[in-house]
Amino acid sequence: MEPMTTTTHTDSALVRAARGEDAPHTPVWFMRQAGRSLPEYRELRAGIGMLDTIRRPDLVAEITLQPVRRHGVDAAILFSDIVVPVAAAGVDVDIVAGTGPVVAEPIRAPQDVARLRRLDPVDVSYVDEAVRLTTAALGDTPLIGFAGAPFTLASYLVEGGPSRTHAKTKALMYGDPETWHALCARLAENALTFLRVQIDAGVAAVQLFDSWVGALSEADYRRFVLPHSERVLTGLADAGVPRIHFGVGTGELLGAMGEAGADVVGVDWRTPLDVATGRIGAGKSVQGNLDPTTLFAPWEVIEAEVRRVLDQGRAAPGHIFNLGHGVIPETDPAVLTRVTELVHTLSVR
Ligand code: CP3
Repeated sequence: MEPMTTTTHTDSALVRAARGEDAPHTPVWFMRQAGRSLPEYRELRAGIGMLDTIRRPDLVAEITLQPVRRHGVDAAILFSDIVVPVAAAGVDVDIVAGTGPVVAEPIRAPQDVARLRRLDPVDVSYVDEAVRLTTAALGDTPLIGFAGAPFTLASYLVEGGPSRTHAKTKALMYGDPETWHALCARLAENALTFLRVQIDAGVAAVQLFDSWVGALSEADYRRFVLPHSERVLTGLADAGVPRIHFGVGTGELLGAMGEAGADVVGVDWRTPLDVATGRIGAGKSVQGNLDPTTLFAPWEVIEAEVRRVLDQGRAAPGHIFNLGHGVIPETDPAVLTRVTELVHTLSVR
């Protein structure tokens, strides 16, 4: 399939910073910029379930554009969820408000893995349509596509829902490595298919979310996770769009994550960006890393923290300004707009 879009966004601040090229200013976007912090989102979502919303390309385009209109951010992120390709591949999963993904029958034994079918692009044709509609409406603003990384998706599938300890996930990993690797191999293959659908439909960059991988030691990450994430990221080497690799609590994993094949490594607020850059290794851009809770502090504090993040981001060949994790739903959207303006003002070249 040929991309329908006429622009590839290679001159956008987002793509230039991701590639370590000079950008007119530091690009800024926020994980979870669409969603419950915005009254216009809450209004549109009233009475419609999360997965039903995601299957409606017109609603996806509108929700994806809301934060771009309001904040003037440098990128949109497709309104979707990491469990979408899992549901599309046959697993009974729902997104429960206030909880997160809930899996009816968790995957814990060798025969369970088969319930996660190989994803066919037609299983997610509504995502293809949503990306086409959204990119057409966005014009010059690049759209970021995304997928969940094998570890984070496996953790939902094995636990059956969110978990603080990831105990069942680790029990499978240590107790039945063969099943663990079979599950992660299928998740990697499906993530690759899912990202290719989005790239063919016109996204300008992709992000692989490994939100919960910080639960692992570096040794376990290298042994049980890295080969699968690497398969996804290197599988897109010829796709022509920058690849962002993100996790939370990954201070000790940044070196290994830097080897997984991304162009940009996302960093949470625990590791300063200059320190992170040293760990990630040469030639990679960074994304992050304002603490999302800082947005509840007095403006003087926020401003000082934004300046610090921008200063420390200069250690890397390219910096994409973001939070260290998603926007907290109670955040005042006016503060996000003001932070966006401040990043632009302070970084203009
Ligand atoms: O603005 C954006 O970032 C776009 C869309 C987006 C959503 N989920 C929408 C969403 C993205 C990129 C995701 C990815 C996602 N989903 C991740 C990785 C990012 C991260 O935050 O670490 C993870 C771990 C999930 C799983 C998930 N889905 C969780 C933990 C939750 C929150 C549950 C809750 O209600 O607190 C969801 C639901 C979800 N995904 C919502 C949104 C806007 C809230 C549901 C709603 O509005 O009804």
